[in-house]
Amino acid sequence: MALSEKNPMVVAHILIWMVLVLLISSSITVSDATETDIACLKSIKASLVDPNNYLNTTWDFSNNTEGFICRFMGVECWHPDENRVLNIRLSDLGLKGKFPLGIKNCTSLTGLDLSHNKLFGSIPANISKIIPFVTSLDLSFNNFSGEIPHDLANCTYLNDLELDNNRLTGNIPLEFGLLSRIKVFTVTNNLLSGPIPTFLHANIPADSFANNTDLCGKPLKPCPAVRRKSLADESL
Ligand SMILES: *[C@@H]1O[C@H](CO)[C@@H](O)[C@H](O)[C@H]1NC(C)=O
Ligand SMILES: *[C@@H]1O[C@H](CO)[C@@H](O)[C@H](O)[C@H]1NC(C)=O
Ligand SMILES: *[C@@H]1O[C@H](CO)[C@@H](O)[C@H](O)[C@H]1NC(C)=O
Ligand SMILES: *[C@@H]1O[C@H](CO)[C@@H](O)[C@H](O)[C@H]1NC(C)=O
Ligand SMILES: *[C@@H]1O[C@H](CO)[C@@H](O)[C@H](O)[C@H]1NC(C)=O
Ligand SMILES: *[C@@H]1O[C@H](CO)[C@@H](O)[C@H](O)[C@H]1NC(C)=O
Ligand SMILES: *[C@@H]1O[C@H](CO)[C@@H](O)[C@H](O)[C@H]1NC(C)=O
Repeated sequence: MALSEKNPMVVAHILIWMVLVLLISSSITVSDATETDIACLKSIKASLVDPNNYLNTTWDFSNNTEGFICRFMGVECWHPDENRVLNIRLSDLGLKGKFPLGIKNCTSLTGLDLSHNKLFGSIPANISKIIPFVTSLDLSFNNFSGEIPHDLANCTYLNDLELDNNRLTGNIPLEFGLLSRIKVFTVTNNLLSGPIPTFLHANIPADSFANNTDLCGKPLKPCPAVRRKSLADESL
């Protein structure tokens, strides 16, 4: 009180400062990222069958203090007190179902590990629209089938792509050879055939391609040149 009588300008300044701080902090916490990341995890939980009740018992959406999802099993946030998901790791939980499309709502996701589960169906053809910033994608040891989508090559931040031990068919998209950050790539134990891409920025070992139907080219046996010739012969 003595302060306000003597120096009303100081009080006015303090009040303005407090209002500014309140405005700024509320605009940070009530961000869109928060709501969409919660929707993302809710939709993953809803779309997967979880026979061992891992998600059912540990992903509890009732206490929604900022940062609550960051304490969920397998969820890592950019900051522990902010609902913005950095990585999702749900390996070896017996999960069943298709690739969870709702993951698109985790808009800041950089790492996804769904390995060693019982996921099936195809890898979405628009995967780069779903996880555009992914640096590490591990779908190994599941039951994914169909072809590897060419669009996966549009996930240009990929360092680590593990698709081994599924039932993938068709060719490996040759565009993968252009991925500039790729370091780890495995498709071992699938049903793939055709030429192996030429990786311009990495040295991928032969083991990464082992146990497929009919892959050829470096680092495996050369692709038969005869094939092209016989095709040419047929067209004569
Ligand atoms: C989830 O867990 C609760 C107990 O925590 C149980 O009552 C409920 O049946 C479970 N739901 C499903 C879908 O398994
Ligand atoms: C919600 O979670 C926070 C942080 O874990 C905790 O401090 C708080 O007590 C919880 N509130 C309720 C109602 O459970
Ligand atoms: C993303 O979340 C919004 C709600 O925030 C929801 O309406 C939308 O269906 C979700 N998208 C997907 C792909 O789940
Ligand atoms: C991706 O494709 C599926 C259909 O396969 C569609 O339901 C989904 O909305 C698409 N997602 C985006 C982000 O385009
Ligand atoms: C994979 O899918 C096939 C048929 O689509 C099924 O016969 C097989 O049991 C599945 N394997 C696993 C481990 O779920
Ligand atoms: C990558 O995205 C572009 C633009 O969306 C598209 O035209 C192109 O076909 C995609 N590449 C692959 C390999 O799908
Ligand atoms: C290839 O398959 C054989 C027989 O199933 C197995 O012993 C071997 O470990 C597999 N190789 C790799 C690299 O997984």
